[in-house]
Amino acid sequence: MIGVARTPYSQTKEIPKGLGAKHDAMGTLEILPEFETGLTDIEGFSHLFVLWVFDRSEGFELFGTVPIDGQPHGVFATRSPRRPNPIGLTVVELLRREGRMLHVRGVDMLDATPILDLKPYLSSIPAEKLRRGWIAGAEMRATK
Ligand SMILES: C[S@@+](CC[C@H](N)C(=O)[O-])C[C@H]1O[C@@H](n2cnc3c(N)ncnc32)[C@H](O)[C@@H]1O
Repeated sequence: MIGVARTPYSQTKEIPKGLGAKHDAMGTLEILPEFETGLTDIEGFSHLFVLWVFDRSEGFELFGTVPIDGQPHGVFATRSPRRPNPIGLTVVELLRREGRMLHVRGVDMLDATPILDLKPYLSSIPAEKLRRGWIAGAEMRATK
């Protein structure tokens, strides 16, 4: 662990879920003092990948339903917190850095969630090449 996420969410029910859920909540990534040097030059990036631990989920389900469409899917085709390795991945917008505190927008994890790693977000995949799998079908049904 390299730090913890400070977010407005103390309970999972407070975190927006399902189709069209907006993740624009502000939070702070508090990096431990011994890792602060590793933040050098991070200010130049607008967005970051945050890798973190689902530290309050229990066990895993290889095939189960998620709030998006109520249909069962394989866990690796979802973003379910109940995974064999409980690792979360969130893209956040980096608003500013104050020493070892990174102020960000777009948190979707509980307060005090352990952070495993940070990496700059650089997407080189053109939008027309992205396939959205079963989520595209769920989105289409929801707009009908
Ligand atoms: C659908 S997951 C997606 C998380 C991340 N964006 C991802 O793709 O890995 C987000 C949900 O995980 C749950 N969650 C958030 N923080 C958690 C934590 N620290 N421990 C266990 N569950 C958590 C909440 O129910 C939240 O709505």
